[in-house]
Amino acid sequence: MKILVAGGAGFIGSYLCEHYCGAGAEVICLDNLITGSRENIAILLEQKNFLFREADVSQPLPKLPSGINLIFNLASPASPVDYYRYPLETLRVGSSGTENLLELAREEGAAFVMASTSEVYGDPKVHPQKEDYWGNVNPNGPRSVYDESKRYAEAITAAYRRKYGLKTAISRIFNTYGPRLRPADGRVVSNFISQARAGAPVTVYGDGSQTRSLCYVSDLVAGLAQLAGKANAVDNLVVNLGNPREITILELAGMVISLCSSRSEIIFQPLPEDDPTRRCPDISQAKNVLGWEPLVSLEKGLKKTIEWFEKL
Ligand SMILES: NC(=O)c1ccc[n+]([C@@H]2O[C@H](COP(=O)([O-])OP(=O)(O)OC[C@H]3O[C@@H](n4cnc5c(N)ncnc54)[C@H](O)[C@@H]3O)[C@@H](O)[C@H]2O)c1
Repeated sequence: MKILVAGGAGFIGSYLCEHYCGAGAEVICLDNLITGSRENIAILLEQKNFLFREADVSQPLPKLPSGINLIFNLASPASPVDYYRYPLETLRVGSSGTENLLELAREEGAAFVMASTSEVYGDPKVHPQKEDYWGNVNPNGPRSVYDESKRYAEAITAAYRRKYGLKTAISRIFNTYGPRLRPADGRVVSNFISQARAGAPVTVYGDGSQTRSLCYVSDLVAGLAQLAGKANAVDNLVVNLGNPREITILELAGMVISLCSSRSEIIFQPLPEDDPTRRCPDISQAKNVLGWEPLVSLEKGLKKTIEWFEKL
């Protein structure tokens, strides 16, 4: 089995590469390191069945070994801090980058798994979000560079499936966390842990009543692998992957402060534009089609993540 992971030096991608290398597959990782790092794949770089190519997938792809069976497209800045900093790169990787990888999948006869996002639901009017909900997205607000890039990526993935019969699967990933998150990446878990550990005020935007659902990275990677396993057998797979336990941001802040044994106070700041008020996946499709559901509790996952931040 030969697998290409675009964005494989990122947070989720590096665990996905580890998963397949550990299972004995040959893994090719393409990454331009815009938000990823060599440290994430340091252990893999020493392994014979792992090949890293530093490359921007929005540009013509480098020559790669042939015989690729499966392509994952995880390449994209993913945290708000990152896609605000790289708006055009984010749009390009979702559009040209996805098209380049779909073309490669067509040439190689490989199955294609697109890492989409819960952000395609925007600020949803339906709770919890099911895959047949079309979303409530501002097409030109500050978050649109990410949301619309992923919506386009879904559209072009579906077009390749219809036009060329490509075997595809789309995973709509909800907030995922775990070791290897960057302390300054602006995601809620990284922010809260960094602030609580430093004894600094923990910043909650709005009144903290907005909710998120947080999935531990090992659960997510298991879901992605199970989804890929079905891409050849089930046509037009679009699956939410996330943890359905919904928690308010205020509760999360309190939980992180307590797990860090911190004395930080919570401070409130204005809600950013288009910040979603509720986020919770309906994962019945993932349960029914993949037999997947998350196993790691929020408390356990946060403890592991905090331990990792402590070692930094
Ligand atoms: N972590 C989450 O909560 C979450 C939620 C929903 C969706 N996702 C999706 O999962 C994927 C991985 O997210 P992550 O959290 O690991 O983010 P990340 O930023 O850690 O990883 C993304 C990787 O893609 C690489 N990349 C970006 N543009 C590229 C380009 N043009 N060419 C080659 N490589 C490029 C980056 O360098 C990085 O290594 C992303 O596509 C993201 O949209 C993540």
